[in-house]
Amino acid sequence: MTAPQQDPWLLTPGPLTTSMATKQAMLHDWGSRDAAFIETNRVVRQNLLKIAHAENTHVCVPVQGSGTFAVEATLGTLIPKSGKALILINGAYGTRMGKILDYAGRAYVTYETLEDTPPDPAHVAKLLADDEAITHVLAVHCETTSGILNPIAKIADVVAKAERSLIIDAMSAFGAIVLDARRIPFDAVMASSNKCLEGVPGLGFALIRKSVLDGCKGNAHALSLDLYDQYKAMEGNGQWRFTPPTHVIAAFASAMDQYFADGGLAGRNARYSENCRTLVAGMRALGFETLLPDELQAPIIITFKMPKDPAFNFDLFYDSLKDRGYVIYPGKLTVAPSFRIGCIGAIGVAEINDALDAIKVVLDTMGVADGHPAAA
Ligand SMILES: Cc1ncc(COP(=O)(O)O)c(C=O)c1O
Repeated sequence: MTAPQQDPWLLTPGPLTTSMATKQAMLHDWGSRDAAFIETNRVVRQNLLKIAHAENTHVCVPVQGSGTFAVEATLGTLIPKSGKALILINGAYGTRMGKILDYAGRAYVTYETLEDTPPDPAHVAKLLADDEAITHVLAVHCETTSGILNPIAKIADVVAKAERSLIIDAMSAFGAIVLDARRIPFDAVMASSNKCLEGVPGLGFALIRKSVLDGCKGNAHALSLDLYDQYKAMEGNGQWRFTPPTHVIAAFASAMDQYFADGGLAGRNARYSENCRTLVAGMRALGFETLLPDELQAPIIITFKMPKDPAFNFDLFYDSLKDRGYVIYPGKLTVAPSFRIGCIGAIGVAEINDALDAIKVVLDTMGVADGHPAAA
């Protein structure tokens, strides 16, 4: 939980606060053909499969860049030019998958619900029954736009029953919220180094069902985003096709050692859940309201409705908290004015409590009586 005192705590969806050990793991240089680096890369890929219990069914294909690069690479590699996707949208990241398919020239339809409303698996089943041309379903596990936890197990069930292919954007959930490949049938899941696994940004990855990826030769619309090619090359000699993000991978390996030492998924989920409960209780005590009811809230990032007190000014609130060492995040909602506070990264309840103290002081300074939002 240590970060240098001069860095603010990042209570955001990412980049996130990383531990000192993770930062220190980058204090070396590696050549891309260095045997030690190749072994680190192999272990990282294997550990990512282990987290999803996917060692026997899937392969891990990493790609340089942020999470969106992994999403774009996976969709382009897995969905053939003749395919058609159904995208389940309840926030910006579902919408972004549509934009990615526009660029890639793949056909798709959408099923959109409000940002505070999960998709209904029964309706997904109906859409699949009504349109035989749909080959792939794209879903977001935790939609970080609001922090909502979508019912991925139930969606996976209906997609499997309809014999379609499920691709999950689990960017902000992977490693902290259960996604067990032995129980949840998915063909691909995408995530990145700098969310719940607490590495540094710069690496995306996908866990892809091996039997599916083996049939994806020639699908991709871009060489650098061709995960079939990336996979075959890496299986061949253990190396990356193009310059690997060596320092990011070294940091990721360290972050994952810390992850397993801290109890793996159960440990991470417990810490984030405690952070989330503490934050929500503290904010409610100040009059703030969460967008989501507790049963839909993932312990990742929390959306709070904007207070109605005219003395509240978000930009001032943000800057004053930053001055006190806490970076929060603006809202991204269309349903209500809001802001977000994340509870992931190398932070614990002590940092959340300190942030709550800072929020109280800032509200007092601004002359805001309490955080109650305007009535809906
Ligand atoms: C669910 C989800 N998908 C995709 C992304 C995009 O990741 P990046 O910003 O790293 O490209 C994010 C980022 O927060 C996300 O939360």
